[in-house]
Amino acid sequence: MVMPILRALSRRQFVVGASACGSAAALALSKGGVASAAIVGDEPSWTLDSPMVTLKDAGQTPGILVGCAVDAARLRDTPDYAALVRSQANIIVGDNAFKFGTLRPTIRAFDFRDADTVADFAHSNGMKLRGHTLVWHKQMPAWFDQHVTAANAAAVLTSHIAAVCDRYAGQIHSWDVVNEAVEVNDGRPDSLRNTPWLQLLGPGYIDTAFQSARKADPRALLFYNEYGLEGEDAGSAAKRAAVLGMLRDLLKRGVPVDGVGIQSHIMAGHTYGAGLREFIQSAHQMGLRVMLTELDVNDRELALTTSYRDSAVATTYDRYLRVALADGYVSGVITWGITDRLTWLDKDKDAARIDGAAQRPLPFDAQFSPKPAFVAQRRALKQAPTVVPVLKRRTQLLVETASAE
Ligand code: G3I
Repeated sequence: MVMPILRALSRRQFVVGASACGSAAALALSKGGVASAAIVGDEPSWTLDSPMVTLKDAGQTPGILVGCAVDAARLRDTPDYAALVRSQANIIVGDNAFKFGTLRPTIRAFDFRDADTVADFAHSNGMKLRGHTLVWHKQMPAWFDQHVTAANAAAVLTSHIAAVCDRYAGQIHSWDVVNEAVEVNDGRPDSLRNTPWLQLLGPGYIDTAFQSARKADPRALLFYNEYGLEGEDAGSAAKRAAVLGMLRDLLKRGVPVDGVGIQSHIMAGHTYGAGLREFIQSAHQMGLRVMLTELDVNDRELALTTSYRDSAVATTYDRYLRVALADGYVSGVITWGITDRLTWLDKDKDAARIDGAAQRPLPFDAQFSPKPAFVAQRRALKQAPTVVPVLKRRTQLLVETASAE
C-alpha cells in the first residue's frame, strides 16, 4: 500500500505534486517504482455492485450488529438523514445525547430531549440502542467543578447513573459506562487517567459506576470504551496492555463488566494488525464482548484528489475490518456518524485537515451517496466469519486467578 510514502513527503511537496494533477502526480509516485505498481497491483476495486444490499444486511450473515452514531437534532429536522440511518443501521448511539453535560444543564434539572429523540427513533424503527456515556472526563457541565466535592461526588455519580439508566431501562442494548479512563502518559502505576472523578473518588469510581449501572438496569450490557487501542505503535501497545490489566482487575474484583468498546478512530494509510487482533482475542478469552464503537477513517494526511482519498479511506476500512473481524469475536461495528456531512473530524482542531478541505471519513458522502468506504465496509462484513459466542470464562478466570494466589 502506498501511503507510507505519502507520509514521507511534506504536505507542500504533495500539494505541488497534486497541483500538477492526476497523471503527473501518479507519474511522480511511479518514480518510486514499487509504489505505483502497488497501487495498480493490489488496489481492490470499490465499484458499487448490488446497491440495495445495506450495511446492516451485510452484518446479518455473520451476526454482527451494524450501526452508527446519530445527531438527535438532525434526526428531528432532516428526514433524508433519518431515512439514511433507518436504511443502514440496526443499532444506533447518540453522539452527544446521553452525555453528562447534555443531560445535566443544571445541578437539579435533567434535559432528556435529545436522548429521548434517539431512544424513540431506535424504538420506532426496531433498532437496538447503545448509551454513550455515563462517566467521562469531557463534556462535563460548568456547575460540576463548582458544586461537586469529595464529600458529595459518590452521591452525584450514583444518582446520575441511577436516574439515567432507570429512564431507559430495558431499552438499552449496551452502555458505555466508563469512557477513556486510561492514560498511560499520566504516569500512574495503574495507568488511570487523572480525571476529576479519579481526583474526587479514587480508582474505585470505576467499580462504583459499573455496580450502579448493573443495579439500575440489569438487562443492559455494560462496556468499558476506549480509544488509541488500534495501532501497531508502542503507544497503542502500552495502552492495550494497560486496558487489559484494568479489565482483568475489575473482573477479579467481581465488577460487572460485560464488554469492551474499541473506538476505532483510525488513520487512512496506517497499518493495523497483530496488536489489535491479540487485544480482541485477549478480551474474548476474558469472557468479554467486543464492539467497534466509533469507527471512522481520518484522511488528514492525504493530499491529492477526492477519488484517491476515497479509495485510500476505503482500503483502510477494508484492511482494518478484516483484522478486527478475523476471529469472529467482534459482535458490533458502529461508525461514528454515517455521512461526511456530520463528522466531528471537521470540527476538532487536532483532527481536521490542514488544507481545510472537508474530511471524508464515513460510508456516505455529504449528499448521502454511498462511497467506496461503503463498499469496503459492506464487503468486509459480508465476508466476516460468524460471531463466536462469549466464553463463560469469567467464572473460570476468577477461579483460575483465585487459585493462582
Ligand atoms: O451543544 C453546544 C452548543 O450549545 C454550542 O452552541 C456549540 C458551540 O460551541 O457547542 C455545542 O457543544 C458541542 C457538542 O459536540 C455538541 O455538538 C461541543 O462544543 C463539541 O465539543 C462536542 O463535540 C463532541 C466531542 O465528542 C466532545 O469531545 C462531538 O460532537 C462528538 O462526536 C465527540 O465524540 C467523542 C466520543 O464521545 C468519545 N470518543 C471520541 C469522540 C470524538 O471526539
